[in-house]
Amino acid sequence: MGEEKNGLEETFVMIKPDGVQRCIVGKIIQRFEQKGLKIKGLKMYRMTTKEAEEHYAEHKDKNFYKNLVSFITSGPVVSMVIEGKGAVSIVRSMVGKTDPKDAASGTIRGDYGIDLGRNVIHASDSHESAKREIEQHFSKKEMINYRRIDEDWLYE
Ligand code: RTP
Ligand code: MG
Repeated sequence: MGEEKNGLEETFVMIKPDGVQRCIVGKIIQRFEQKGLKIKGLKMYRMTTKEAEEHYAEHKDKNFYKNLVSFITSGPVVSMVIEGKGAVSIVRSMVGKTDPKDAASGTIRGDYGIDLGRNVIHASDSHESAKREIEQHFSKKEMINYRRIDEDWLYE
């Protein structure tokens, strides 16, 4: 997990409750598929407060932590494990800057969000976070190894 041989990496992505309620799950998943990234795990669930506190533990001393935990547990999320060459940084750049008003058009947050606390999607910010978040949200059985039919045309 995280960084692997020949540049293949896994990363964790979560469409937040606002993205699910606004019915843009399909559009977001399609962006990752079309980029050439492989979806190795995919599920919808509602996080408990305890799980949300663990997921956002790095922010526990921040003034927005309580709001963040309450928002992320306010409805279902759709999470994915995504694999590809350089997937951690590719996915972060597809997601865009944290505040949607600063995020470039063409990024997910730039195209679908307005407010900082409703920025549609989470993505791991490093290989270490990816490893930790995948382990927190997915069991081994929930991740599938398979070949995409277009792999020979995606990678040289
Ligand atoms: P995320 O973890 O959700 O993918 O977002 P991120 O890495 O781009 O940003 P991060 O610094 O980890 O912040 C986590 C989430 O907290 C909310 N936030 N609010 N009020 C504030 O100052 C503030 N700063 C961050 C955002 O919703 C952000 O996604
Ligand atoms: Mg973060």
